[in-house]
Amino acid sequence: MSLFNQKLPEISGSYSQDSNIVLHEGDTYGFLRKLQDNLITLAITSPPYNIGKVYEKKAKITDYLAEQEKIIGELTRTLKDNGSICWQVGNYVDKGEVFPLDIFYYDIFKRAGLKLRNRIVWHFGHGLHASKRFSGRYETILWFTKTDDYIFNLDDIRIPSKYPGKRYYKGHRKGQPSCNPLGKNPSDIWEVLAQDWENEIWNIPNVKSNHPEKTVHPCQFPIELVERCVLALTNEGDWVLDPYCGVGSSLIAGVKNNRKVMGCDKEHEYTKTAKQRITDFYSGTLKMRPIGKQIFVPTGREKVSQVPIEWEEYSKRVKQ
Ligand SMILES: C[S@@+](CC[C@H](N)C(=O)[O-])C[C@H]1O[C@@H](n2cnc3c(N)ncnc32)[C@H](O)[C@@H]1O
Repeated sequence: MSLFNQKLPEISGSYSQDSNIVLHEGDTYGFLRKLQDNLITLAITSPPYNIGKVYEKKAKITDYLAEQEKIIGELTRTLKDNGSICWQVGNYVDKGEVFPLDIFYYDIFKRAGLKLRNRIVWHFGHGLHASKRFSGRYETILWFTKTDDYIFNLDDIRIPSKYPGKRYYKGHRKGQPSCNPLGKNPSDIWEVLAQDWENEIWNIPNVKSNHPEKTVHPCQFPIELVERCVLALTNEGDWVLDPYCGVGSSLIAGVKNNRKVMGCDKEHEYTKTAKQRITDFYSGTLKMRPIGKQIFVPTGREKVSQVPIEWEEYSKRVKQ
């Protein structure tokens, strides 16, 4: 496909029929209102969670959800009939009480007429250690489609089978290999990606800040996470939209795979970084983890895998 074999395609501030990359700095609702119907094949985002991050003001959960319902209405309008929305959320927490946002969002998407295809659990082993409840170690991605006739390119996202040498042990195919030679369906628990992401972080003393993809953004997507959705739910040349694009991780996942991309964020610092990352991608200098990179398995010899010498006393107590 010739769409993206240019050095750096123009990055437009607003959508026009000739654009391939759109990066808009401003409010999401106003941006979406100007888009035409039936344009987007995949809208994927991690919206603000209303938890008081630097880029958001915490509101009453009912007010927050009412605002988000307007956004989802606009996204549904701009979505093509074979299109999908992937909504990645965690928990909203108020005075220690946990509100899993996907539960609240589900009804909003249903009211918009969309159908749930998967509730993907993105599990990661790192994060804050809670003291009054179990530590949270997953977020979810709700994948909705507009109609029953949607794109799902399973062969493009298969992962290696655990036991590729397995064979049918009965029936007319007895003795033949029973796995798919292209690999298996990655399932709705995305641990592999999580482990990859985590180990990059965990392996390095100064946690998050040393991850190859890390930028100024406090909660950016791993590009690889978005790539799986892009490959599965769109075809080359389709539009991928991230309505809260932050530092542009979804946009990079899209251009890397020859999709047209559109993103919006209200923070100048983030759109500036997003623009730089896209430019770096085209000049071949963007640091990215390659999709499907081998998972790191700790050997036990790494310094961080070993029990600190200061804890010898505790270890003795446990053994007794
Ligand atoms: C969870 S972050 C998304 C991060 C993104 N996935 C990435 O990889 O960088 C949510 C983003 O929404 C943006 N945001 C919040 N409210 C907004 C609004 N009303 N209009 C546009 N952007 C908004 C924030 O600036 C923030 O970057």
